[in-house]
Amino acid sequence: MRIVSATISSFRNLQEDSFEFSPRVNIVLGRNGMGKTNFLEALNFFALGRSHQGSKIEEMIAFAGDSLHVRLEVEEESGHLLQCEFGLDNNGGRRFRLDGEPVTRRTDLVGRLSTVFFNPDSIALVRGGPSHRRQFVDQSQAEIDPLYLAGLTAFNRTLKQKKGLLRDMKRRLVGNGKGKDELLAWNKELATYAAVICRGRHQYARQISPFAADSHQQLTDNDSKFDFVYHSNLKTVQNIICEDSEKLSNKMEIEAEISSELNYIIEDEIQRGRPLLGPQFDDFEVRLSGLDLRVFGSQGETRTAAVSLILARGDVLFERRKIRPVLFFDDIFSELDRERSQRLQKMASRLHQVFIATARQDDVEGWHPDQRKIWRVSDGRISEITQES
Ligand SMILES: Nc1ncnc2c1ncn2[C@@H]1O[C@H](COP(=O)(O)OP(=O)(O)O)[C@@H](O)[C@H]1O
Ligand SMILES: [Mg+2]
Repeated sequence: MRIVSATISSFRNLQEDSFEFSPRVNIVLGRNGMGKTNFLEALNFFALGRSHQGSKIEEMIAFAGDSLHVRLEVEEESGHLLQCEFGLDNNGGRRFRLDGEPVTRRTDLVGRLSTVFFNPDSIALVRGGPSHRRQFVDQSQAEIDPLYLAGLTAFNRTLKQKKGLLRDMKRRLVGNGKGKDELLAWNKELATYAAVICRGRHQYARQISPFAADSHQQLTDNDSKFDFVYHSNLKTVQNIICEDSEKLSNKMEIEAEISSELNYIIEDEIQRGRPLLGPQFDDFEVRLSGLDLRVFGSQGETRTAAVSLILARGDVLFERRKIRPVLFFDDIFSELDRERSQRLQKMASRLHQVFIATARQDDVEGWHPDQRKIWRVSDGRISEITQES
């Protein structure tokens, strides 16, 4: 998948302009604060239907403007040229269009433009709390399995109901008898969706592990065993995974077991006024030579592990959907040593279109891949430079 061209207007500090990109390597140079991250954010926005940095949409509209507009032409693997457009305005209005047709549901948008984004925060995938790893797996699995996304969405909606009910029971707005009946009903429903989530997360961890190990080996030139392992918060699920994970596909049985595990702690939950068990507390272990990198990894090890996992996400996507995502690297090369940086640049650009933003020209010096384009960003103005200067 490649971004062929783009037109950007009133996006943060970027001046209105159109661009034709290299199908392979695009290097974005400029001093700090010039607009490199903004440029990548504009190109990546369509992939998620929101900012990868979690910004509010109004924050992305240029200070001086009241609406923004971005249009991308994306070449899909089939050769089809997909027109992606989005517009946002100050009143919270959002418009998305694919090939001119309005798209209203975010689920119809997810996965049409596939991208993978690396920035200095990517290290949180290994170093940060469990929610970072859950989010990574959820997004990755959702783009290869629409049923997973549906299960996850339904689970979150139901969990919200259950949370509200437990809160109301604690405040005595709902009596215990009636409340308990309702809780049992919610638990039954949650168990159905939790089964989808647990199965999907386990499958995803198993699938990505060998690819991540392979990337890790190529980046480090070292054979240490690298693993990404699912840890379910539900004991029943964890036991099944340890004994015989094939059983996870027995839908009825697993739903019943999850449901009784949830029901078993109903009194505790009522007392505490919040849910205490479920996939919302799952985690994944990142293991290098048997060592848990979440806890014991050095800066360098965790960074390389995070990069390996994120690259591997692209490999899984290709294996499952025959799609090569566009890769974005925002300011990460200054944090890797020179040799790893060079290896990463070569690995990434072999099969994917890449966008690399950096303030340090020497991060990419001496690297002359075919069809390279260099873009210079200066106070929001982006121009192509034909010669390295
Ligand atoms: N909505 C906006 N309108 C105008 N300028 C913005 C907006 N949001 C951020 N900026 C400006 O963008 C600049 C930062 O750009 P950024 O892409 O992060 O730079 P770089 O990645 O090159 O260091 C800052 O000067 C900031 O004030
Ligand atoms: Mg930046």
